[in-house]
Amino acid sequence: MKIGIDKIGFFTPHLYIDMNKLALARKEEPEKYTIGIGQDEMAVAPITQDPVTLAANAAFNILNDDDKKAIDFVIFGTETGIDHSKSAAIYVHHLLGLKPEARSIEMKQACYAATAAIQLAKGHIALNPDSKVLILASDIARYGLNTPGEVTQGAGAVAIVISANPRIMALEETSTYQTDDIMDFWRPVYSDTAYVDGKYSNEKYISFFSSVWNTYKEKTGLGLSDFEALCYHLPYTKMGLKALRTIYDEGTEADKERLVDYYQTSTTYNRRIGNIYTGSLYLSLLSLLEQKPLKDGSRIGLFSYGSGAVGEFFSGILQPDYREHLFIDKHMELFAARQEISIPEYEKIFEEVLPVDGSSLDLDVTKDPAPICLAGIKDHMRQYINKK
Ligand code: HMG
Repeated sequence: MKIGIDKIGFFTPHLYIDMNKLALARKEEPEKYTIGIGQDEMAVAPITQDPVTLAANAAFNILNDDDKKAIDFVIFGTETGIDHSKSAAIYVHHLLGLKPEARSIEMKQACYAATAAIQLAKGHIALNPDSKVLILASDIARYGLNTPGEVTQGAGAVAIVISANPRIMALEETSTYQTDDIMDFWRPVYSDTAYVDGKYSNEKYISFFSSVWNTYKEKTGLGLSDFEALCYHLPYTKMGLKALRTIYDEGTEADKERLVDYYQTSTTYNRRIGNIYTGSLYLSLLSLLEQKPLKDGSRIGLFSYGSGAVGEFFSGILQPDYREHLFIDKHMELFAARQEISIPEYEKIFEEVLPVDGSSLDLDVTKDPAPICLAGIKDHMRQYINKK
């Protein structure tokens, strides 16, 4: 039985900044941000969007009634959790009106958690072929104003439906993975911004990629010529290219040209949104699938990396007519409706945070065009609304 991605969509807030303008404000050369880092724009989450609303909006855009009847497992991957105890999946389950006969959980391992969720979902579908699993990967990446990591911030979510006989991509059986206890990036529970050893994190990303890719080749006997394209976790779009460069001479000149060309396509949305942590690899997959037609039956390789650290390489096969099941128009509308804000406006939004002392707050959701918003906080409980 084939198991894999039946639907996939994303959501990002309606506000963004231009990286050329951020570079000028930070007294850097704009090319450092746009070429050296590879980011053109960065999504900015208003206070009315949190990881729950981002994820709920991503799923709201792609689910129909049949999906809602079949989904009996919601897995929420995030490193921007809003509660130590209750899972963010339960809020989304409610906001989307999913059936009560379902499991809902949250998973964490930095940017890697959605990949673990996919592997868990595969097992669930193998045992329950008529059901569907909803995976949410949602984060707001925050390093702080005027920090080296600032240029790699972002906000957004990806929603994925995993099922039997998937219409977009069937996942292959072999995947290779690795864990090592390292401190390249982490966020202690008392901090709302990440701590990071930037250069070390880049080195570890590459070394994890090299290790899982080599093991994958040994296990499967496959090589570069067997892959139409490779997608990477993209903390910033130059990062995946650095990893690809370490292997692209393993194949022919044609392999190298094809993989570099598709790599550029796979960075399209990430260049305009920034790092969305758990969803970044899947935003890259969406960029690839939606921006350039690939042959049915093409094999796509995926490298997932979550600091701390866990890495995994796995692959999928594109299904016949997969493009008919994408939400390209909706995603183009989302980009077209975004508003650019100035750097001072972004800085003001960045510093606006929810109370942590138990006080209540009502938020103005009329300025946020998203259907699902955070409307406030009362008695230590977040108040969500679905305007549609
Ligand atoms: P930095 O020190 O400000 O930048 O931090 P730099 O000096 O290394 O410059 C960056 C690049 O721009 C360099 O290119 C420069 O040469 C180039 P590279 O040598 O790397 O190819 N450059 C220029 N290019 C063109 N024209 C110019 C110019 N000037 C310079 N004029 C850093 C960069 C990424 C370290 C920083 O932004 C950071 O710490 N980011 C956060 C950490 C991160 O994203 N790490 C990635 C790997 S870890 C990961 O992926 C996991 C993560 O997503 C978290 C999770 O798992 O939850 C982060």
